[in-house]
Amino acid sequence: MIAVRALGVDDLDAVASLERASQPQPWSDAALLVELVHDDAVVIGAFDDGALVGYVAVRRLVDECWILNIATHPSARRRGVAVRLMDEAVARGAVWASTSLWLEVREDNAGARALYERCGLAAVGRRPGYYPPLLPGPREAAILMRRAL
Ligand SMILES: CC(C)(COP(=O)(O)OP(=O)(O)OC[C@H]1O[C@@H](n2cnc3c(N)ncnc32)[C@H](O)[C@@H]1OP(=O)(O)O)[C@@H](O)C(=O)NCCC(=O)NCCS
Repeated sequence: MIAVRALGVDDLDAVASLERASQPQPWSDAALLVELVHDDAVVIGAFDDGALVGYVAVRRLVDECWILNIATHPSARRRGVAVRLMDEAVARGAVWASTSLWLEVREDNAGARALYERCGLAAVGRRPGYYPPLLPGPREAAILMRRAL
């Protein structure tokens, strides 16, 4: 069964290891640390049998709630971990009295976009050239997605 809790500085090594295993361009340890200690951020971890298998980093920005990053370990995918983390992000937005939930996603990240649509977000904009390329080539567009809270 998946259990969730807010992560702290003591979880940095575990979440950094998960991030490196999960992302094609992982966040640095320093970037993760900023979110772990930021007053207007929360990093929520998902655990399976005590092992960290997913996390979501969420920020409050005035009356908006932003998902900055989300990842599930490759060995734990398609078992509902990310949906559970998205539910936690929505719950955090409610605690913050946020009026909307926002995120940016690579245009060609079909899996993540399907996840977000399933969680009620809809595309509301496109930012051309937003992301560095994963392979040699042009920069990639971001799709801006939003849902009301
Ligand atoms: C995107 C990601 C977080 C999804 O995590 P997950 O725990 O496997 O997602 P879930 O099991 O909760 O998936 C829920 C639903 O999202 C959709 N979905 C998730 N991954 C998908 C994929 N690769 N292809 C198509 N749909 C997908 C499906 O509708 C899925 O439901 P289903 O399994 O019943 O079909 C994971 O693939 C990941 O870590 N990817 C690399 C990091 C990344 O791209 N993060 C997003 C940055 S914006």
